[in-house]
Amino acid sequence: MKMKDLGVLSGDVMLFGGPYSNMQATTAALNEAIALGIAATNVICTGDVVAYCARPAQTVALVRDAGITVVAGNCERQLAAGAMDCGCGFEDGTTCDLLSAGWYAHVDKEIGAGDRAWMAGLPDVVVFTHLGRRVAVIHGGVTDIASFIWSVSTDAAFSEEIAALQELVGKVDMVVAGHSGLAFIRDVADVRWVNAGVIGMPAHDGTQDTCFAVLSDRGVDIVSLHYDSDAAFADMQQIGLRQGYDRALMTGYWPSEDVLPPELRLPDFANG
Ligand SMILES: [Fe+2]
Repeated sequence: MKMKDLGVLSGDVMLFGGPYSNMQATTAALNEAIALGIAATNVICTGDVVAYCARPAQTVALVRDAGITVVAGNCERQLAAGAMDCGCGFEDGTTCDLLSAGWYAHVDKEIGAGDRAWMAGLPDVVVFTHLGRRVAVIHGGVTDIASFIWSVSTDAAFSEEIAALQELVGKVDMVVAGHSGLAFIRDVADVRWVNAGVIGMPAHDGTQDTCFAVLSDRGVDIVSLHYDSDAAFADMQQIGLRQGYDRALMTGYWPSEDVLPPELRLPDFANG
């Protein structure tokens, strides 16, 4: 486990997950930070810089050039290790399993040795202090980088992760995570768990916009991000990434609902 302590951060802090090789969304998010007056020192990504979309190398370049802090996602860990899949552990035959074969191969082909070395050096946990609160940023979970923690997960699921985290870094007041793709805020005992959402894929809600989180003296805001989804879709079409995540950018619905807990699935959802 690699840990990085950013010390005390002053002013607003922007957190986002899952750029997912979506160059247009990443550009929009970084521009939004500038528009909000948030410096790169106060911008943190919860990982999975690369995944479903068309432009992995360009997305990594944008993130690295911006100089923001990045927590390793399972995609970064797998690429750095030269693994053959994304490491989510999807069961054989699930939609996510079938789709990951397409996009992961594309990412693996596009990402060079320099970017893999950068990925290998990324921390698993980032901690900082903001307005007197100690915050830890992780990807999925501490017990497993690819843990899917949802808004409807049990208190025990959150408590187990928080206990494992506090064993590593001491007491925290807030956890900010990503990986599962849907933003939410949940209080478990005296710890606030925030999933900052992802910028590279819509939130399975029928809208093209994605989201990020801002910590400020008002608390935690989940903020909508509008970006050029038409161009991101066209890029995927052009290189043949047409297995379903391309359409998701347009429809706002995931092609892989079987990853979701039943409570978060749409009543009449049909693939495609
Ligand atoms: Fe992930």
